[in-house]
Amino acid sequence: MRGLKDKVVLITGAAGGIGTSLVQCFLEEGSKVAACDLNEQGLQQLKEKFAQYDAQLMLVKLDITDHAAVSAAVQQIKTQFNQIDVLVNNAGWDIAKQFVDTTPEFWEKVVSINLMGPLNLQHVVVPEMVANGGGKIINISSDAGRVGSSGESVYSACKGGIISFSKTLARETARNNVRVNVVCPGPTDTALLQSFTGDGEFGQKIYDGLKRAIPLKRLGQPEDIPGAVAFLASDDANFITGQVISVSGGLTMHG
Ligand SMILES: NC(=O)c1ccc[n+]([C@@H]2O[C@H](COP(=O)([O-])OP(=O)(O)OC[C@H]3O[C@@H](n4cnc5c(N)ncnc54)[C@H](O)[C@@H]3O)[C@@H](O)[C@H]2O)c1
Repeated sequence: MRGLKDKVVLITGAAGGIGTSLVQCFLEEGSKVAACDLNEQGLQQLKEKFAQYDAQLMLVKLDITDHAAVSAAVQQIKTQFNQIDVLVNNAGWDIAKQFVDTTPEFWEKVVSINLMGPLNLQHVVVPEMVANGGGKIINISSDAGRVGSSGESVYSACKGGIISFSKTLARETARNNVRVNVVCPGPTDTALLQSFTGDGEFGQKIYDGLKRAIPLKRLGQPEDIPGAVAFLASDDANFITGQVISVSGGLTMHG
């Protein structure tokens, strides 16, 4: 894709299922990647997996819920790579529960990771992008944020919030050449989905049901997601902002 070589891309949740595929995609495009995650062991695994891209890859242990830590991480990335051209807010977390069975403590954790985390990143990175003459932000939301999802009420609220936040930020920053778009994965085969479906026969039934419901007749794989993200980060998408794209095998066809 055009314009990704040598661009500096900050990816959160980089050690997770979709995050690892995002890191791989941008490294292959020749970008410099600041891979951020809470999971130190996962970051170490990224280092080993992508050893051939050593000079392009920077690992940053980061809890996205901590605004001060986000500021410090962005400074660290600027010291190594000079600036941030692309921000991919990908970190996320949930446990499936009926809303009435959840607690305020649980809501706080879900909101702090899925909503406050991306806000922290954008609050720190947007002024940097404005100072640099522009940039691209891609927020990884979810189809749960577009059409709802049983067992994911508070997570859906955060993901829906991210969609409307992104449209607003896109309007506010367009004059500064910062484009903000959203990619919504559908059910994608990662640790997050496995924690949702659970193991054993029950989990298998959910997987089978999803496969039947998805028009393209399979679950998403982590490597299905980066194409849309890389496109939105590329020069080919310079005239696109405030948009939402589902990558879900056609499960949702939202207007
Ligand atoms: N897998 C799916 O079915 C699916 C569907 C729709 C949307 N999504 C979204 O895609 C994104 C990636 O999810 P995934 O499926 O790869 O999940 P995953 O669990 O494999 O990866 C999530 C990553 O986020 C990191 N993380 C969690 N809390 C963090 C924090 N406070 N600070 C920094 N990092 C933190 C985890 O350590 C993990 O590496 C998430 O935003 C998720 O909501 C996933």
